[in-house]
Amino acid sequence: MSFCPESKEEMRLSRRSLLQWAVAVPAALAVSRVVAEVPFAEAAPAGPFKLPPLAYPYASLGPTISEMTMRIHHDKHHQAYVDKLNAAVAATPSLAGKSAQTLIQNLDAVPESVRTAVRNNGGGHVNHTMYWEIMNPKGGGAPKGDIAAAIRTNFGSFDNFVKKFDEAGEKRFGSGWVWLAMDKGKMKILSTPNQDNPLMMGMMPIFGNDVWEHAYYLTYQNRRGEYLKAWWHVVNWDAVNARLHYFAKNA
Ligand SMILES: [Fe+2]
Repeated sequence: MSFCPESKEEMRLSRRSLLQWAVAVPAALAVSRVVAEVPFAEAAPAGPFKLPPLAYPYASLGPTISEMTMRIHHDKHHQAYVDKLNAAVAATPSLAGKSAQTLIQNLDAVPESVRTAVRNNGGGHVNHTMYWEIMNPKGGGAPKGDIAAAIRTNFGSFDNFVKKFDEAGEKRFGSGWVWLAMDKGKMKILSTPNQDNPLMMGMMPIFGNDVWEHAYYLTYQNRRGEYLKAWWHVVNWDAVNARLHYFAKNA
């Protein structure tokens, strides 16, 4: 079974839409400056997939996210997604050589016998790699650069954007993620269940927050809203800007 050409066409359309959006935001995104500066989960090589190391110490995101939460979340949960994704790919020769992004963008082309495993664990690997990348102990504060301009243009103000983002995260029933994504040239906030990623719906995931209980329960217990509010203290806007630029160039 091959990966469908329709998805390539969709991605070409998505890229065109994103560039149209970029041009529509005055001076917000100079396309000539759009450069993929760092590797992303979405750009990672094919398997076997590996758990990416953190770029900062486990304890350094405290008190927003505790060392214990980081150790369990990264070393246990993310490792499990990586191991199960590798097992699914190893059992399915037609999936060999595919990047994690390609796998989750083309789930219809994944044999049914491992489709759920690839969806959950491929999504888990891509989502968590993004999550570690967009946090930093020196993060927080107001957004800057192109993402700041894009948020102002699309949501009026950063405060309004945070309110809507956190509301979407709080409303997600059960486990999932809340995202800022690009959908046909428009920025939107959405939440997804389980380990689903906007890439699975043809959207581009600018950034997202993990609202599984494993992301916050040790510190915040059932108070997901407090975690969502505190999380902005560790968001690495440089990394978010780099992702925005990456998707403008490579979507
Ligand atoms: Fe998680």
